[in-house]
Amino acid sequence: MAESIHIPVMCNEVIESLNLKQGSVVVDGTLGLAGHSLAMLERIGAEGKLIGLDCDAEILEKSKERLAGFDKQCILRHSNYADIDKVLSSLKIDAVDAILLDLGVSSYQLDNAYRGFSLKQNGPLDMRMNQGEGVSAFDLVNSLPEKELSQILKVFGEEKWHMRIARQIVKQRSSAALRTTEDLSIAVLKALPSGRNWQRIHPATRTFQALRIVVNKELEKLTVGLDKCVNVLKPGGRIAVIAFHSLEDRIVKNIFRDFKKAGQLNLIVKKPLRPTEEEAKENLRARSARLRIAERI
Ligand SMILES: C[S@@+](CC[C@H](N)C(=O)[O-])C[C@H]1O[C@@H](n2cnc3c(N)ncnc32)[C@H](O)[C@@H]1O
Repeated sequence: MAESIHIPVMCNEVIESLNLKQGSVVVDGTLGLAGHSLAMLERIGAEGKLIGLDCDAEILEKSKERLAGFDKQCILRHSNYADIDKVLSSLKIDAVDAILLDLGVSSYQLDNAYRGFSLKQNGPLDMRMNQGEGVSAFDLVNSLPEKELSQILKVFGEEKWHMRIARQIVKQRSSAALRTTEDLSIAVLKALPSGRNWQRIHPATRTFQALRIVVNKELEKLTVGLDKCVNVLKPGGRIAVIAFHSLEDRIVKNIFRDFKKAGQLNLIVKKPLRPTEEEAKENLRARSARLRIAERI
């Protein structure tokens, strides 16, 4: 198992924007390896409470170890943030001061080949954050009709070559199932027109993104979860969301806009904040980050 470090993205901007005070009650809806949570704990002090959620049981165990010194301030739950209302009501908490959603996968998941998220290391085609439920990338790739696969790659990967890739996957699986991340990468490479320069990003990046989004129902969870998050904020409470691609960011933008129109949210920044050049250079994952912040009225 790789011991990876996940560098929290735009950490200073997140902490400043959430307006945290000593004693604040906060939710980290995407706990990961607790990088942002550790910074939040410092701000909220011994009187504060941090509720940390992650739908990945393995990563939750890792973050429990990292947060071992903060037992009194932390409540950690294996949960999807789309169930934030249920978690808070089980804890008899009506409303909170701040919420962070740092979307997508953590470097920990990417670096452990056996989780099947990585393009760079070979592993089983899984991609489930919550390994206890749902269908895996293997199931989708080996059973969906060509048209549906193509549509998934088009919509969730914004993949220009979606039809060619879907056709190649279906051709390949007719002789043997695609079992590994390498099998899938090879299918994508075979599908693409030859003689192009694919150096900027790995040619299978969009295919992997599309499948991961569908496997984890990422956009549905964001739509349902963000709505619930805004509803459990105290007046004056803040929410920060870091998105890593335009599909996610559009959902955040539209939900915030609808709550603003309804007189329930103020936007703290009109346009999403972007990482500094320095951060983007030091942490490649940060390059595509967009941070939106809003305050409950
Ligand atoms: C980008 S990482 C968060 C990294 C974290 N901020 C840190 O500093 O270590 C996203 C984490 O959220 C989890 N996650 C993604 N979608 C989720 C969801 N809908 N509900 C709960 N956890 C989710 C992933 O399993 C992953 O561990």
